[in-house]
Amino acid sequence: MYRAPRGTRDFLPEQAERFRRLEDLAALLAQQYGYGEIRTPIFELSELFQRGVGEDTDIVEKEMYSFSDRGQRSLTLRPEGTAGAVRAFVQHKLYNEAMPGKYFYFGPMFRYEKPQAGRYRQLWQFGVELLGAEGPRADVEVIALGWQYYQELGIKTRLVLNSIGCPHCRQEYRKALIAYLEERELCQLCSDRLHRNPMRVLDCKNSQCQEELEEAPLIDQYLCGECREHFQRVQEGLDQLGIPYDLDGRLVRGLDYYTRTTFEYKTDELGSQDALGGGGRYDGLVELLGGPATPAVGLALGIDRIELMNPPALQAQEQRRGIWLVTMDPAAGQAIALAQELRQGGARIQYDLMERKFRAQFKQADRNNCRWALVIGPDDLEQGKAVLRDLVTGEQQELSLDIVTETVLNLEGAK
Ligand code: HAM
Repeated sequence: MYRAPRGTRDFLPEQAERFRRLEDLAALLAQQYGYGEIRTPIFELSELFQRGVGEDTDIVEKEMYSFSDRGQRSLTLRPEGTAGAVRAFVQHKLYNEAMPGKYFYFGPMFRYEKPQAGRYRQLWQFGVELLGAEGPRADVEVIALGWQYYQELGIKTRLVLNSIGCPHCRQEYRKALIAYLEERELCQLCSDRLHRNPMRVLDCKNSQCQEELEEAPLIDQYLCGECREHFQRVQEGLDQLGIPYDLDGRLVRGLDYYTRTTFEYKTDELGSQDALGGGGRYDGLVELLGGPATPAVGLALGIDRIELMNPPALQAQEQRRGIWLVTMDPAAGQAIALAQELRQGGARIQYDLMERKFRAQFKQADRNNCRWALVIGPDDLEQGKAVLRDLVTGEQQELSLDIVTETVLNLEGAK
């Protein structure tokens, strides 16, 4: 027996429907904020992620699904959406269009992580990328968009905020951090990364490393004047929108492209998988991937984790919906033609496909949670009528066949 690969899941209709609603809501929200959808390939050249996400990150070092194709190219299933979106921005010279460019996406990402509840190897993200706007208002808009998504779903989350400065102010901080870390006992991976990329150590999950970090210098002492002001204004912008946040000087995030603002939406309800979403500013990435210097900020929200929290807005409405056509030969042919007409008019309508008896057809109507049964038996057809049964109250009424379509299409819950 075959099973879905470790860390992947099948979404059967009920759960798939929840994902669809999460996607619809995301698309609607993004459009409200003026973001247009972008769909990039599921795989890209591996080099894009090595450069874009960063050689020293867990994602690139340990988690990529890479393979070579028959043309000997090294390709990778995308572990995240930002690098691909920026690649498309550069490839299609979108920087020549009106700025800022605002894009959103919703789709699967792939990371070779140790699977557990809330952590999968095929995971789903809703992301937005805002390119070309330098000022703090852009950061605030992106953070507010994510915040509103959780609010609409009825999920409680805690926003955590930091600034990791620009390459300029980071130089001094880097030196101080390396000096501090050289005196500490770190895990093998952190010792390896220490001189190349000391900020990665701040993100290490190893408990020994976390202990050693307790008194590590924080970046806020090292921010340059401009970064400090930018960060201040992001906070003011959030205050004005009434969005609460906590500052955390250790929040560096797991990807190398960030500059200045970093943020995460956290929850206490999912154990160690406490990040529901996150993002930040990445002012250097467009240039790094071959485009003109373009400031940018974005976020990605983890859809699997959101769904796992069973948000109130997704809880199944126990509402009956749609129509079940109950029929039998020799009336079935004509009745099904009528059902087809109703479908074209927008009705949700089903009928028996397995030549079941009348009683069994009513059972099916019930099992499928239909609101109405439309009965057209051989006798009814002869008399030019149909019977409509309300499956909630059990009441029945006769309808002349001439007015069935019109009446049924106007029924409550028919569509
Ligand atoms: P990220 O923090 O790596 O950021 O991922 C965003 C969210 O995806 C996480 O907060 C988490 O909810 C979810 N996620 C990540 N890995 C898994 C997993 N293995 N299983 C389930 N959910 C997971 C990014 O990906 C950046 N591209 C965000 C961004 C966009 N920054 C700027 N623009």
